[in-house]
Amino acid sequence: MSNYHIKHLEEYYQVYRKSVRNPEAFWEEIAEEHFVWRKKWNNVLSWDFSKPEIKWFEGAKLNITDNCLDRHLPTRGDKTAIIFEPNDPNEEALHITYRELHERVCRMANVLKDHGVKKGDRVCIYLPMIPELAVSLLACARIGAIHSVVFAGFSSNALATRINDSDCKIVLTSDGSFRGSKSIDLKGIVDKALEDCPGVKNVLVAKRINGDIHMEEGRDKWLQPLLNEAYADCVAEIMDAEDPLFILYTSGSTGTPKGMVHTTGGYMVYTAYTFKNVFQYREEDVYWCTADIGWITGHSYIVYGPLANGATTVMFEGVPSYPDYGRFWEVVEKHKVNQFYTAPTAIRALAKENLEFVEKHDLSSLKVLGSVGEPINEEAWHWYNNNVGKNNSPIVDTWWQTETGGIMITPIPYVTPTAPTYATLPFIGIQPALMDEVGKELKGNQVSGRLCIKFPWPSIARTIWGNHERYRDTYFSAYKDMYFTGDGALRDAVGYYRITGRVDDVIIVSGHNLGTAPIEDSINEHPAVAESAIVGFPHDVKGNALYGYVILKEFGETRDRDNLRKEINQQITEHIGPIAKLDKIQFVSGLPKTRSGKIMRRILRKIASKDTSNLGDTSTLLNPEVVEEIIENAI
Ligand code: PRX
Repeated sequence: MSNYHIKHLEEYYQVYRKSVRNPEAFWEEIAEEHFVWRKKWNNVLSWDFSKPEIKWFEGAKLNITDNCLDRHLPTRGDKTAIIFEPNDPNEEALHITYRELHERVCRMANVLKDHGVKKGDRVCIYLPMIPELAVSLLACARIGAIHSVVFAGFSSNALATRINDSDCKIVLTSDGSFRGSKSIDLKGIVDKALEDCPGVKNVLVAKRINGDIHMEEGRDKWLQPLLNEAYADCVAEIMDAEDPLFILYTSGSTGTPKGMVHTTGGYMVYTAYTFKNVFQYREEDVYWCTADIGWITGHSYIVYGPLANGATTVMFEGVPSYPDYGRFWEVVEKHKVNQFYTAPTAIRALAKENLEFVEKHDLSSLKVLGSVGEPINEEAWHWYNNNVGKNNSPIVDTWWQTETGGIMITPIPYVTPTAPTYATLPFIGIQPALMDEVGKELKGNQVSGRLCIKFPWPSIARTIWGNHERYRDTYFSAYKDMYFTGDGALRDAVGYYRITGRVDDVIIVSGHNLGTAPIEDSINEHPAVAESAIVGFPHDVKGNALYGYVILKEFGETRDRDNLRKEINQQITEHIGPIAKLDKIQFVSGLPKTRSGKIMRRILRKIASKDTSNLGDTSTLLNPEVVEEIIENAI
């Protein structure tokens, strides 16, 4: 029997050792005993990080929807698969059973097929958190199409870039979305994006807000009538374990977003196995992850991981502050949520509000609390632990990335003793290493360095869509035979890991990865701007906020500064989305640069953080005088 469900610390260590000593045998056992395959693999793993090439379960055939849907029908057909909790608490929640979900997925799959979508085609999904979103991911998987979900908060520009990068011919969207007291015209954003996407032939539109929208003749169709007419069964396409399942874009420190490609077999095995253990999910539990399916957290831990385990997973359309700051806790009480998984930024925002919002709800159903997306600070950890968990529900601080597909470093609740701000121990099968700047591994405890992973795990991304070289350069070139995460970490005296933050030019704002270069590019397109540099600075709710240093062209200098600030943020909103707006914009006459022309961001970061006592070595600067001026006028 494989160790699918780990229940105590000794077992963790024993299973961990087993998974590291003989990873192939370990994962083979898990894959064999807990999933359905149409054909078994010829080879469990082949890998070469120098190319890089990683293949898990090569030769195996499967469809992930067999595992997430069909196999549950005989025993869990009437069990709720998805609880849809709408934005407005007065609208009734929807309980979708496994049987109903199966039917919805089949109908959607048939609609896609009717629109010419075939195995290997890319489908862009730009939908809010409504059931159609989860259904469309699974419908793509059913027919072997590759989904590319774009978070419905991204701008038309960002959407167009992603549609074109992966050459999507079809877009699934809605007439709009509800977010708290606002409604958003998603279809308008799609229309604008498609002006730059000549390859898109079909747009299927779900009705959600009854918005008054434009429907382009010959291109746009309402989804519901098509679904109603479609056949309610659809044969699952037989996929290779290494066939792509989806593309999901993530920001890089430079250039265009990276379309991370995840494949089918390994992703399924790893997300399901981590879900079961990291949340200690049991058959009758109700699990809720508050992320949006537009991010990897939603892909792996709202859709695939939970459904592969036959779990009940909550999909929440709304926001934590509407109609009031008690909304999360009201939903926990209403659906008797057992596992609750959210982001530190949400916790910090709610911790600022009156405790009554938490206290008036019955949270006694909670057994496990999760955190993801950024480091959780000590204060937020204690607030979460004391007020939500009542010191009774372990907090799993889960470290992972879009690229890793699944949770990598995390406590296992009721198994690993937790410690505030520590992601604690590597998950089963994960072999972390801390490296110094010259490429030496830092062995032993009480060391800090750059976090790498030495050995492949089943859900590692296999490439960047259309750019394998960038994949190699970004993740496998910094250290030989290692996957480099881009994060710094320390390992304490007992071997616990604490993630200290990014060591590259990616800034995490409210749990969202933002690359500095694309934001700078969009600012620089403003006609009055000559050059700019973005850095992060600590923010008590968002974790980090953005500080922009902007050099104006001569003619811009006469313009009103506040108007310019608004225009710059407007420009960023249009190019990337409101999440990338700058909190502070300082106009400067120059930027500190090295003799080779590189901006010294270290100095700018210190100034933005109001920590100018020790700026370090500035002797290599070409223009040290500019530093004084920037400090003097800092905001
Ligand atoms: O810096 C780490 C941070 O988020 C980055 C990955 O972001 P993304 O690909 O958007 O995926 C987020 C959801 C998995 C990481 O490189 N990060 C994520 N989780 C944690 C974290 N930092 C500290 N602690 C965490 N638990």
